Amino acid sequence: MSVKTLSDLLKEGVEGRHVLVRSDLNVPLDGDRITDFGRVDASVPTIKALADAGARVIVSAHLGRPKGEVNPKFSLAPVAEALSERLEMFVPLAADVTGEDAHERANGLNDGDVLLLENVRFDARETSKDESERAAFAKELAALTADNGAFVSDGFGVVHRAQASVYDVAKLLPHYAGDLVQKELDVLDKIAKNPEAPYVVVLGGSKVSDKLGVIEALANKADKLIVGGGMCYTFLAAQGYDVQKSLKQEEMLETCKELLEKYGDQIVLPVDLVSASEFAPDADKQVNGLDGIPEGWLSLDIGPESVKKFAEVLSTAKTVFWNGPMGVFEMPAFADGTRGVAQAIIDATAAGAFSVVGGGDSAASVRVLGLDEAGFSHISTGGGASLEFLEGKELPGIAVLES
Ligand code: 3PG
Repeated sequence: MSVKTLSDLLKEGVEGRHVLVRSDLNVPLDGDRITDFGRVDASVPTIKALADAGARVIVSAHLGRPKGEVNPKFSLAPVAEALSERLEMFVPLAADVTGEDAHERANGLNDGDVLLLENVRFDARETSKDESERAAFAKELAALTADNGAFVSDGFGVVHRAQASVYDVAKLLPHYAGDLVQKELDVLDKIAKNPEAPYVVVLGGSKVSDKLGVIEALANKADKLIVGGGMCYTFLAAQGYDVQKSLKQEEMLETCKELLEKYGDQIVLPVDLVSASEFAPDADKQVNGLDGIPEGWLSLDIGPESVKKFAEVLSTAKTVFWNGPMGVFEMPAFADGTRGVAQAIIDATAAGAFSVVGGGDSAASVRVLGLDEAGFSHISTGGGASLEFLEGKELPGIAVLES
């Protein structure tokens, strides 16, 4: 079944129409300062195309997980400011999501104006498991578009969530895939269906359990699965190493043993680590072998020999998918592993590989570490969404557009 796109909507004409756009503006914050603008920048083209064509644009988005309660800590105010700068126009933030202020502001929009609604997750119905609750909230969102409205789904990072502003609202309005969603799907489809070999997958991040599905799904497709980051310690523990206080998922030990038995030839693990006396940016640190973590210490990064080993594997790749940092890159003392592996992927890309960075922390690390974004073939805005896509799972926010 086919999906209508933003260009279909633009051809139909949007002048004077209210268009509700679901974007993923879930940016990392330090207080009220945005530390990585990647998702804002990626959301701008669709919003701008609609505004330029004369639509009255209403943007909905979430920030963090405020659990259905209004919490100023999760306000989209910093995002409204960032959007205003990038769109070179004032983008007001409604004081609520579907309340009086949102209605008044939506009604008052002129052609080409853009309004941002407050965090949709301030309303518990957004993420409710109860379909009727979500449907009621979706109805209120749709009502903001008055007559002749439309819905553009452009928040790729959230299309794996069957939530009111992503999924249920699409059932109530003529719906279209935005440019970002389309671009992301095209790229990911390419590596899901037709990855040129050797295909190297680099996985990091804290939990094995989060990546289990993708390991199982990609083990049969990828030539090598490089595992670093917080999740590697459970694998190392499964191999019998004493990882001391490093992150370890006790309940996943057996699973890791099984994965090593099944896919041992493909899984590539670190050979040395950077350990710290405590989880702190200024902790005492040392590089050690896998069996040399000092008693009571914890490892927060992969070591230089591991970077070399991973880089060697990556140098042969024709396709690379990377999800998850190699260490606690937010602390400069433990960023070298992530920086080294990212650089190896950039080098592989320069040598002709097709590389995709799978969203979330790894995408943020590229920018935070000052690496050249253009060095990768594609940086996805979706962490969980890109993983679920590659696992072959149906993404509700996409499936609903196919009708
Ligand atoms: C993300 O950060 O991956 C998306 O914005 C989805 O957020 P969520 O995991 O809180 O649903």
